[in-house]
Order: sequence, then structure tokens, then C-alpha cells
Amino acid sequence: MSAGKAPAAAPARLARKGSMRGRALGNRRGACPNGVAGEPEQIASLQRLLERKTTLVRMMVHDMKGPLSSIMANLDLLEKSRLRAQERECVETALMGCQDLFHMVQNLLEIGKMEQGQVELNLSIVDPEQLFREVVKKMARLSEQKGIRLRIECRSDVRSLPVDAHLLERIIHNLVLNALAYSKPEGEVVLSTLDGAGEGKIRLAVSDTGIGIPPEYQEAIFDLYAQGESWQGMKNRGIRAPGSVGLGLAFCRLATEQHGGKIWVQSTPGKGSTFFVELPTDLTPYGSGLM
Ligand SMILES: Nc1ncnc2c1ncn2[C@@H]1O[C@H](COP(=O)(O)OP(=O)(O)OP(=O)(O)O)[C@@H](O)[C@H]1O
Ligand SMILES: [Mg+2]
Repeated sequence: MSAGKAPAAAPARLARKGSMRGRALGNRRGACPNGVAGEPEQIASLQRLLERKTTLVRMMVHDMKGPLSSIMANLDLLEKSRLRAQERECVETALMGCQDLFHMVQNLLEIGKMEQGQVELNLSIVDPEQLFREVVKKMARLSEQKGIRLRIECRSDVRSLPVDAHLLERIIHNLVLNALAYSKPEGEVVLSTLDGAGEGKIRLAVSDTGIGIPPEYQEAIFDLYAQGESWQGMKNRGIRAPGSVGLGLAFCRLATEQHGGKIWVQSTPGKGSTFFVELPTDLTPYGSGLM
């Protein structure tokens, strides 16, 4: 799995750097004449440094949540007060910017926790249709602004799914955000539960009538570390939104896999994309009750 390749790739990169520096330092100081003896310590020291840096960045990102929430709450209040048209526009733009930032912070923090195996599923029985409605409600304003219709199409017999409601909501939220970001006005986004998943599984889908994804990128888009060539290639071909970070689908993949499920895309450039999320139905909830 591509998201899982990264931890293995990082030490390999460090090892290469370490051996070059090891030889240079060793030869200069004469401490390790063959340039090999110093390597493990150097690698370990670089790894410790990397871990400290990662922890620091995570703490800073985490601490952004508080001030960001209070800015958003105040902007929310301001928006509800009497404002002139131009003032309202400024407040709305500021609010949307904060929401994007908040979304990015959440993705970053959750990816970090999942990569470190620090996430325990908080399972409950969820009605997928109700969860879709919650997401659609939150995205109503954005979809209106973009002129894109959001629709729910659910099978009547799929009413209860044992999942972590918070994680599933964030998966669907990310998929719908993408569907809106990569569609043109007058498009349509459909959230659905589908047949065909087989015994013990349920399949959810988010489809759009947007720009689509070329086949050569349909796997790489889920990989947090597939930046490099794929990312540049997509940028060059104009199939990444300006300011896109590339965290959303990596989060979706990790959160789906955390449930023992899988996620993939079927897409035709110029016609649209459908993202499928397949989840097991036999997980045992600790809590109970419909969402
Ligand atoms: N529905 C879609 N239609 C077309 N392209 C898509 C769609 N969803 C994702 N993509 C492509 O996959 C890339 C990765 O998506 P992902 O959600 O991981 O990151 P992002 O949207 O660029 O940034 P963010 O971290 O804010 O979500 C996008 O940049 C885009 O090129
Ligand atoms: Mg996204």
C-alpha cells in the first residue's frame, strides 16, 4: 500500500545521505577511516532529529486549532450582524479561508495519528443516509456558490453500519469537497449507497460530473508521499486546484483502511469521477445507537 511505503522510504533516504556525510566527516577527522563505522549513529541521530521536528510541527499544527476556532466563531457572529454588502463579502471570504485552514489542520493531525497507530476506532451504529445528510447540510453554502447540485441516493435496506462516525464523516466530507472543487458549475454530485459489495461489506460512493482524473494518476492521488513527479505532472496538466495540498485522499485511504476497508476511484477525464468506499459490516461497536 502506497501510504505505508513512506516510513520505509525515509530511512533509506537518510541512509544514503548519512553514508556520504559519514565518509566526508570520517576522512577529515580520521574517526572512521573506512567511512562505515559512523553510519548507524549518524542515521540514528538524524532519525531522532526528524522525530523531534515532526513532533514540534504536530504540536504547532495542533495549537493552531484553538485560535482558529475562536477566529471562526467571531467571524460567524459578525456574519450574523447587520453588515453592508461589501463588509459581508469580506467576512464570508475570511470565514471560508479559515474553514479551509481548519480542514487542512484536521487532515494533518489525523494523518499523523493514524500513521503512528494512535487512532482507536470509536465504533457506533450509523445510518449512512443520515450521515450523508449532515455532510450535505454543511456543504450547502459552498455547493450553492459553485452552482453544483448535491443529491443523496440511498438503498432503503442499508440503514446501519458499524463505523467510527467522526472518521466516516470526514472521509465523505473530503470526497464531497473534492467533487465540488474539481467540477464546473451546473454539475451534480451524488452521495450513494450501492449494491454489489458482497457478503459482509457495504459500498458507499461519491460521484461527480467534473474534470475527471487521467488513469496514470488514479492510484497516486491517494498517496501522501507521491508528490514528486505525479504531483508536478498533474499541476502541469492543470488537474490540481490552485492551493491544493494533497492531504484529503491520503486521509481518506488511511481512515478507510483503519476500518479494514478500501477506497478507489473510477474516472473518465472530461466526464467525471466516482470514489468508492467499501467497509466491512461485521465490526463490533463498543457504543450503540443510531447517529
Ligand atoms: N473528484 C475529483 N475530480 C478530479 N480530480 C480529483 C478529484 N478528487 C481528487 N482529485 C485529484 O486528486 C488530487 C489529490 O486530492 P486530495 O484531496 O488528496 O488533495 P487536494 O484536494 O489537492 O488538497 P486537500 O489536502 O486540500 O484535500 C487533487 O489535487 C486532484 O488533482
Ligand atoms: Mg481534497
